[in-house]
This record gives sequence, C-alpha cells and structure tokens, in this order.
Amino acid sequence: MDRDIGAVTGEIFGAFTERLEFLRFTEQHITPSYLGWLSSPESSQFLSTNSKTQTKSSVLAYLEQKRQNRAGDLVALVDRKSMELRGTLGLSLAAYEGQRALEVGILIGYPGAGLGQEVVAKVVKILSGRSVVRFLVAGIDKENIRSRRLFESSGFSLSQAKGQRDDLWILDLQEGSKPS
Ligand SMILES: CC(C)(COP(=O)(O)OP(=O)(O)OC[C@H]1O[C@@H](n2cnc3c(N)ncnc32)[C@H](O)[C@@H]1OP(=O)(O)O)[C@@H](O)C(=O)NCCC(=O)NCCS
Repeated sequence: MDRDIGAVTGEIFGAFTERLEFLRFTEQHITPSYLGWLSSPESSQFLSTNSKTQTKSSVLAYLEQKRQNRAGDLVALVDRKSMELRGTLGLSLAAYEGQRALEVGILIGYPGAGLGQEVVAKVVKILSGRSVVRFLVAGIDKENIRSRRLFESSGFSLSQAKGQRDDLWILDLQEGSKPS
C-alpha cells in the first residue's frame, strides 16, 4: 500500500452499523452541537484538537491540515434514520513495529449508549484480515476510563507508555480481536 489514507477510507466511507452510517466529514457536519461536544471540558481534555473553543473555521483548518498529506481523514458518524451527526472518527496513517498502522481517535456526542462499541467493532471487522494496515492504534489518556474500557473490550491491548499522559493501545488485525 502506498502511504495514502484513501486505501483505508475507501473501505470505511459508506459502511453501516446497526444505528450509524460512516460518511466523509464535510462542512455540513459542523453543527452547533458538534462544536459544543468539541469544546466541552469532558471531551476536549481527551482530544488532540484541545484548544479551548472550537469554531467552524478552526475545524475546517484542522480538516485541511489532516487531509493535506493524504495521511489522515475524518469520518462523520451519522444516525441512519435522522442523518444527524452522532460523533466522529479520526483516522491517521501511522507505523507500529515497522508495519503499517492506523491510528484512530473517536468522539461520540451521546456517550454511554454503546455507539463507541458499535463503531470500533465495525472498523475492526472491516479491516481485519485485509492487507490495508496491520495494526490499529489508539493513544488514550490514562485518565480516560471510558475510552480505555471501550478499546479494551473491543480487543485492544495496552502496549507501552506513549507519553506521560497517554497510553498506547494496539490491536493486531491479522490476529483478530480478542474476545471481550
Ligand atoms: C470514549 C467514548 C468514545 C466512548 O464512546 P461511548 O459511545 O460513550 O462508549 P460505549 O457506550 O460504547 O461504552 C464503552 C465502554 O465505556 C463504558 N462506559 C460508558 N459510560 C461510562 C461512564 N460514564 N463511566 C465509565 N465507563 C463508561 C461502557 O460500559 C463500555 O465499557 P464495557 O465494554 O466494559 O461495558 C466517548 O465517551 C467520547 O467520545 N468521549 C470523549 C472523547 C474521548 O475521550 N475520545 C477518546 C479519545 S481516544
């Protein structure tokens, strides 16, 4: 695979879960609710876009930067019935143990309803046993219990300390997800 996120998004965009559809994130998804989730202290402390207040233009700038090198993209997670945004999934090409990896960063606007589980399970299912990437990687703040539980129960294992605050969680797509 060349270093192009298109090989991954080609598999992801248009996919469905029970409640959600995965679409390419566009300007129309930047609703007041979305900006509210990004800026709320509960979410923003754990997001890479952790400036205090997010605006439409700051989100567009972030998206442009992410897409510029074709090494990252953002998925809009929309409700299949209402087509309203329920969350986002950030995707970035990465490397782990010298092999191709995909770093994922998830934001769910209505937490605790199982949507995170639905999304991560689907991504694992789509990419398992394919040669697009070998590993899924998530950098998770040590304090982020909910995210840690989400990735752990989705088959990820704690790999190593990534930094002072973050842990690195890994799933080997060739071995498949471990039973939760
Ligand atoms: C982390 C996040 C993506 C989880 O998504 P979600 O839809 O809320 O997760 P789910 O409802 O599928 O639940 C996932 C796990 O968290 C647990 N959980 C849910 N609500 C919780 C809460 N309030 N406190 C602790 N654990 C909780 C669930 O029980 C489940 O664990 P289990 O499989 O052991 O039962 C979401 O809460 C979020 O967007 N948080 C803010 C941004 C963020 O932290 N992103 C992650 C960056 S890596």
